[in-house]
Amino acid sequence: EQEKDALRDRFVYLERMEAVGKLAGGIAHDFNNLLHAIQGSLDYMARNDDPAARKQAVKNIDVATKRAEDLTGQLLAYARGGKYEVSRIDIGKLVRETEDLFRPMVANHHDLRVVVHPDPMFASGDRTQLQQVVLNLLLNAQEALPESQGRITVRVEPVLDHTPGWKNAQERSDSVCDFVIRVRDSGCGISPEVEKRIFEPFFTTKTGKGTGMGLAMAYGCIENHHGVLHVESQEGEGTEFFVFLPSASRTELPEILAATGD
Ligand SMILES: Nc1ncnc2c1ncn2[C@@H]1O[C@H](COP(=O)(O)OP(=O)(O)OP(=O)(O)O)[C@@H](O)[C@H]1O
Ligand SMILES: [Mg+2]
Repeated sequence: EQEKDALRDRFVYLERMEAVGKLAGGIAHDFNNLLHAIQGSLDYMARNDDPAARKQAVKNIDVATKRAEDLTGQLLAYARGGKYEVSRIDIGKLVRETEDLFRPMVANHHDLRVVVHPDPMFASGDRTQLQQVVLNLLLNAQEALPESQGRITVRVEPVLDHTPGWKNAQERSDSVCDFVIRVRDSGCGISPEVEKRIFEPFFTTKTGKGTGMGLAMAYGCIENHHGVLHVESQEGEGTEFFVFLPSASRTELPEILAATGD
């Protein structure tokens, strides 16, 4: 009996260590992205004398530093047995903030467009994690573009029956979603063989450069948010990632009911 208990303890311990390893790997990865954002803003400042542009770059560095703090906070919270922090998130605003972080990294001959639907769009979840997802998708999009030219278009909008990708996404998931963040690039596209594997941890085609953790983390994160991460791609034409999310009112409701005892 005692032996069994010891074995179970050992098992729980190993499982926890594995989770910590995965989390640490993911956080290291996201941390790197933020360091790139800071480096991008610094390079930008070195090249620009315009006071307004420099002010914006300083602001970006400030935001990236705060995000990095949030990330280490997450790791510490986990080490203490805590969970992630849930709040009500204006996803249009979240995407705009991510745009500010990302813009200094966009090359001159690349075009970044962000289109946010005017309707209010609120999701419930962990702000830092969702922002990392969007940042990861933007970085992947950029890495897929040819050096000389290319376009990245981000859209935040309500989900309608005819929203591209939604029918296909629903075939894989029974989540009910209200909003979508679409990240589209005019890059190299993904072959069907590669597409099957992109969400696997450590799967990468960027030998020596990528960790292959970006999409695995994003996938896990969106699952935790009761959403769906979906991809559609045409080799040689480009790729679009879809982050489908339920509205805050939908995911908060059960908690409210539970709280009132109904
Ligand atoms: N927008 C995209 N266009 C083309 N291929 C993509 C795109 N996004 C992801 N991929 C493919 O999916 C793979 C996995 O992506 P993921 O973000 O998980 O890791 P990575 O980008 O290779 O590494 P890291 O994120 O650590 O830099 C990539 O190596 C690439 O082959
Ligand atoms: Mg990546």
